[in-house]
Amino acid sequence: MTKVGFFDSGVGGTCILAAFRRLCPDVATEYLADSANGPYGNRPPEEIVRLSVANTEALLRRGCNVIVVACNTATAAAIDHLRAQFPAIPFVGIEPALKPAALRSKTGVVGVLATAGTFHGRLYNETKARFAAGVTVLAVVADEFVRLVEEWKGGPTEKPLAGAFRDRVERTVRAKVEPLLKAGADKIVLGCTHFPHLKPIIEQVCAGRAEVIDPSDAVARQIRKVLAARFP
Ligand code: DGL
Repeated sequence: MTKVGFFDSGVGGTCILAAFRRLCPDVATEYLADSANGPYGNRPPEEIVRLSVANTEALLRRGCNVIVVACNTATAAAIDHLRAQFPAIPFVGIEPALKPAALRSKTGVVGVLATAGTFHGRLYNETKARFAAGVTVLAVVADEFVRLVEEWKGGPTEKPLAGAFRDRVERTVRAKVEPLLKAGADKIVLGCTHFPHLKPIIEQVCAGRAEVIDPSDAVARQIRKVLAARFP
């Protein structure tokens, strides 16, 4: 039986899990939120590799035979290592959707929101060099968004997004996104799986001035493709 295991530093990757469940509701899934060790954004790569190996082993013990690294930061630091250490297991990773953003931008200015770890990774920098050479890419570290989403959804019960908490979320989003809009960005890439959880608020702040690019559905389709190829 096919069972797809997803892991992230916390609740972020549930946006990928939800997109996959919408696409393939009959496939069994497991989700591992490594909240005890998250966030990963500013950890050294070798620590992220160690944690990613532990997460993979835990999901394999739960019977998973495909692993989705539902975290841009962990993909950046660890996917090559994971593929080498577990050669029989198909891995699907995630990197910021800079390519479609750069190709579709009309202003030639693209904003990317992600963690420092993702921006330092090989995948992001190769994609940037290959597909965004003629485009101004504004890279913004938004660790505050990770903390807000964990505070909102990471506890035993989800906190209502209302009142003073909602105001704080809106203020934090505005402070990060408004400068990108002012600089002419017409695409905002959500390069961390915690950020699609804030998409309605990011879109509200953008107010039609920029398209917000959420890769969750594209990653879900990629998982389905890998399943069809490996478990026909
Ligand atoms: N959700 C993770 C990502 O996609 C990172 C958040 C963190 O742990 O800093 O990059």
